[in-house]
Amino acid sequence: MNVTVMGTGHVGLVTSVALASLGHDVIGTDVDEKKISLLQQGISPFFEPGLEEALVGEMEVGRLSFTVEAPRALRDAEVVFICVGTPARADGEANLLAVERSASVIAVNGRDGTVVVEKSTVPAGTAERLLRVLRFERPDLIDEIEVVSNPEFLREGQAVEDALHPDRILVGARSVHGFETMRRLFEPLVRDGSRLIETDMATAELAKHACNAFLALKISFANALARICERADADVTAVVDVMGSDPRIGRAFLDAGLGYGGFCFPKDLQAFERLAARLGYDFPLLREVERINGEAVEATFDKVKDALWNLEDKRIALLGLSFKPNTDDVRFSPALALAGRLLDEGATVVGYDPWAAANAKSELPGLEVASTADDAMEGAHCMVVCTDWDDFRSLDLRRARGLLAHPIVVDGRNVFDPDKMKAEGFVYYGTGRATHRASAH
Ligand code: UDX
Repeated sequence: MNVTVMGTGHVGLVTSVALASLGHDVIGTDVDEKKISLLQQGISPFFEPGLEEALVGEMEVGRLSFTVEAPRALRDAEVVFICVGTPARADGEANLLAVERSASVIAVNGRDGTVVVEKSTVPAGTAERLLRVLRFERPDLIDEIEVVSNPEFLREGQAVEDALHPDRILVGARSVHGFETMRRLFEPLVRDGSRLIETDMATAELAKHACNAFLALKISFANALARICERADADVTAVVDVMGSDPRIGRAFLDAGLGYGGFCFPKDLQAFERLAARLGYDFPLLREVERINGEAVEATFDKVKDALWNLEDKRIALLGLSFKPNTDDVRFSPALALAGRLLDEGATVVGYDPWAAANAKSELPGLEVASTADDAMEGAHCMVVCTDWDDFRSLDLRRARGLLAHPIVVDGRNVFDPDKMKAEGFVYYGTGRATHRASAH
């Protein structure tokens, strides 16, 4: 099928590559000329494992191309995906200007029978609004244009894998034409075992909000438990293992730590809360999820203060700066929130991250970045693990102890075994587990 994807951010680019690899002819378009020029050379504007290789592969076989000229991209499209950004406004509501602009461009340049797919995370009711824009602009196509909601569930760091093997594909539509087009589009994935769930449009939009909010709720539940475990001398990792062994609860997304970050959860949660308020339903549970998430950074900050007393003249090593492992994305990263708090108190903060150091530095210029974990730790009075990169789990502890000026570790992601830390002579502050203070401290 001929497919056009508007927007070359994470979701747009991964969607383009995935649809091309399913055998469709895909054109990606964006208003950002710089991004398109990079993509035309086979370069991804951001890091995502496996993305650039897949991108180059699909371009070479001629199934994927990029252009800034939206009219050309839209001329033959049977399906148009809107994957443009929906950043949060100051009040938390999603800014849908780029979505509306995309709809206008499609209305003017699209062909009869085009199916417009809303992929960006948007408040429930947006598909109806899109339909209205399309109808205003093209009254001649009133019955020809169909809007479909197809929310994205992919995770950064494993986005290509998620797009090629999704657990479920959610399609919200109104007409047989809409459903049938999407069935044709995703047929190879369904044949491969992915579950296709078909609903009305508002249900699909709301389901996406509900999924993200519920996952964030699980994380905040684990973090609130961590605060209690610290006071009760219990170990939160063992508590959530017990919880997770109940299939009704499930173990996923119950890791206590510095909390969630990234471009989805914080923004989507706020947008969901605003949406609920606009619909006349107060949803304080969502605010509480956000509050507990902020508290997780604060609790880690308190441990550093407890360990070091005054932070001026202290050098603190942060291991991990991205909002989660396997990405260079630092947007709303809890690691940077913590770094900001420590810098405000006058500490020198040296961060190391396998991929995200450059992005972190441009986001937070006061942060020093080191090119190895050893360099970050050398002479530091305390080391804090902020992101659970696999590399940190296998850190040479004896070496780390030799590099640090004080053997103090605050483990914001519970990557270390407390007994091992104790044996190596560290003062070890875990998350949601008893603190081990060596006798020297
Ligand atoms: C999320 C959703 O998982 C995905 O379905 C949606 O499409 C976009 O938002 P993503 O933002 O890529 O994906 O990251 P995810 O892997 O979900 O992690 C989000 C944050 O939660 C990270 O900061 C991670 O460190 C944190 N997290 C996750 C925890 O603190 N504890 C956990 O148990 C799980």
